[in-house]
Amino acid sequence: MATATLKPEFDEILPGVVADRRHFHEHPELAFEEIETAAYVTARLQELGVENIKTGVGGTGVTGIIRGECGDGNVVMLRADMDALPILEEVQADYTSKIDGKMHACGHDAHTAMLLGVARILMQHKADFKGAVKVLFQPAEEVPPGGAQAMIKDGALQDPQVDAAIGLHVAADSPAGRISWRVGPGSAGSDRFRVVIKGRGGHAARPQAAVDPVVIAAQTIMALQTLVARETDPMDGAVVSTTAVIAGDAFNVIPDTAEVRGTVRTISPETRERMAKRVPEIFRGIAETMGGEADVTWISGYPSIQNDALVTEIVRDAAVRIAGEENVVENPLGLGGEDFSYFSLEVPSCFFYCGTRNEERGIVWGHHHPKFDVEEEGFVNGMAVMATAAMDYLNAN
Ligand code: NI
Repeated sequence: MATATLKPEFDEILPGVVADRRHFHEHPELAFEEIETAAYVTARLQELGVENIKTGVGGTGVTGIIRGECGDGNVVMLRADMDALPILEEVQADYTSKIDGKMHACGHDAHTAMLLGVARILMQHKADFKGAVKVLFQPAEEVPPGGAQAMIKDGALQDPQVDAAIGLHVAADSPAGRISWRVGPGSAGSDRFRVVIKGRGGHAARPQAAVDPVVIAAQTIMALQTLVARETDPMDGAVVSTTAVIAGDAFNVIPDTAEVRGTVRTISPETRERMAKRVPEIFRGIAETMGGEADVTWISGYPSIQNDALVTEIVRDAAVRIAGEENVVENPLGLGGEDFSYFSLEVPSCFFYCGTRNEERGIVWGHHHPKFDVEEEGFVNGMAVMATAAMDYLNAN
């Protein structure tokens, strides 16, 4: 049985949510430094009567439990990220950042305030659901390895064991109140490589006495493309881009070494895993064949979000009831990074987007831009979808 949409109740509490968002916006804190933000969140959760509040989870993370009164059941985790960015804000408003060089330019201030609003309404609806909601406020989404992984390592998905997770992100390119969703991959896996190819330098006129790392690099760069063209399912897709080649600085000297850097973007976890193995193999194999050596450093970024079909269907269904069919759209696959992905690899999850664009008010700037802002009216639908979907999920399981 689907619950009522809760939208009127979120309309009513919007002013309080906006006040919280503006407080966070005025006092931005960077990744893993969210001390004041976490303290503010904790105080709010205590005020609301949220149980089992844990602080300092995976750094500055905070979790709390809202237990339904209709009996035991599953646990759904709702997530917000809390960190700001090292950007000098250019928005002129009475809530502009009070800290020069730090700014909530991605909307994480909105996510944190919205999740507090969701907690407030769910506390008033404990009689209407079974199981429990875990609210989770995480540090450091912006800086890999990120706060999600740290919180998971610190037990955030245990005690009580989480069965499903829902997260949201505000979207600057989507009109206020529009909800967008996607089943399957929701972001790209993004990893980097730095390789030093060691040859043996010498005179450019006597190549037979040298091992040329520039030629090894050239062979390798071309061979890397076959990882996509010949080894990756065309319906899956991946990108290997070599973005820097650094070697030598003379016309007539074969250098000792060449450094090659690049990035790999993948959609499926299997392809990501294969790339992490095959890229180093190709570097080492070709270097060895040609008498050199390759020293490979693999730098893991965030994996790709995997949106579960059933959880996403519950979110989409709630969204249609709240925002209307015309305001609920399927998202194309974006290649951005987002560490909600770590949760989505542990439990069935849905990460959806809530529009916060308002062209009439000039709120059109993209995420991470110094003029980025959000249309706060858009929060109502995002919060209502999160809370309604959480209750629907719990009552169906
Ligand atoms: Ni973000």
